[in-house]
Amino acid sequence: MSVHKKEIKRITTHVLLEMKQRGEKIAMLTGYDFSMAKIIDNAGIDIILVGDSASNVMAGHETTLPITLDQMIYHASAVIRAVERCLVVVDLPFGTYQGNSKEALSSAIRIMKESGAHAVKLEGGSEILESVKRILSAGIPVMGHLGLTPQSIYKFGTYVVRAKEDEEAQKLIADAKLLEEAGCFALVLEKIPAKLATQVAKEVKIPIIGIGAGNGVDGQVLVVHDMLGITHEFSPRFLRRYANLYDEIKGAVEHYISDVKSQDFPNKNEQY
Ligand code: KIV
Repeated sequence: MSVHKKEIKRITTHVLLEMKQRGEKIAMLTGYDFSMAKIIDNAGIDIILVGDSASNVMAGHETTLPITLDQMIYHASAVIRAVERCLVVVDLPFGTYQGNSKEALSSAIRIMKESGAHAVKLEGGSEILESVKRILSAGIPVMGHLGLTPQSIYKFGTYVVRAKEDEEAQKLIADAKLLEEAGCFALVLEKIPAKLATQVAKEVKIPIIGIGAGNGVDGQVLVVHDMLGITHEFSPRFLRRYANLYDEIKGAVEHYISDVKSQDFPNKNEQY
């Protein structure tokens, strides 16, 4: 008797391009561990981003800067073991690609080889173009990231909306076109005016995934801990919460503690 594995149509960079062409929106969430990635993939997400936001939500750092390449590979490997359908993109962490393009390529190769991820994401435009091109030349798909780029938080000084002024907006448009020409398969635009994001999505052929960039782009991304309400102090205007897991989990843990203390748990049916 032969065993037939369920046929699953995997999301590839080409599928994402086709989605943009037919106007189907792309849904992307971050993911950092096996159990959550399995749920998200089974729900039908198109892309899981193993974001360097793991530095904040998984490790408790204030910024994304401290997370290391080894730690990103650890998170990415766990996600890859969980997923059957979605595309898995991994952030190159701060300090692993800005120095020079050779270092960028070897960081990207480590991620691809050691985690089995499908693509990498880098923050920045013209400043990192050489690195982007070198990674692409090795056959590694690259997603760009413009607008609010959290790895540059100490340069910006704050997490406010980017590219409100014309000069920064023009640079962003030029960078988006440079990254498209270089061969990036998609771009994330973070926290910029909706009008500008819509214009970029119209002027480039590759998918534009927004976070705090309005509805005129080709898809949306949120940090999974934020949209599930596990983090509860962080409340930017662009965030829609789909659950309140902080309260749910806290309530369940309080219930468990009370049952243990009162000796209600375990009962006769919960022992051998
Ligand atoms: O690291 C991350 O979570 C990200 C998203 C916010 C796009 O880069």
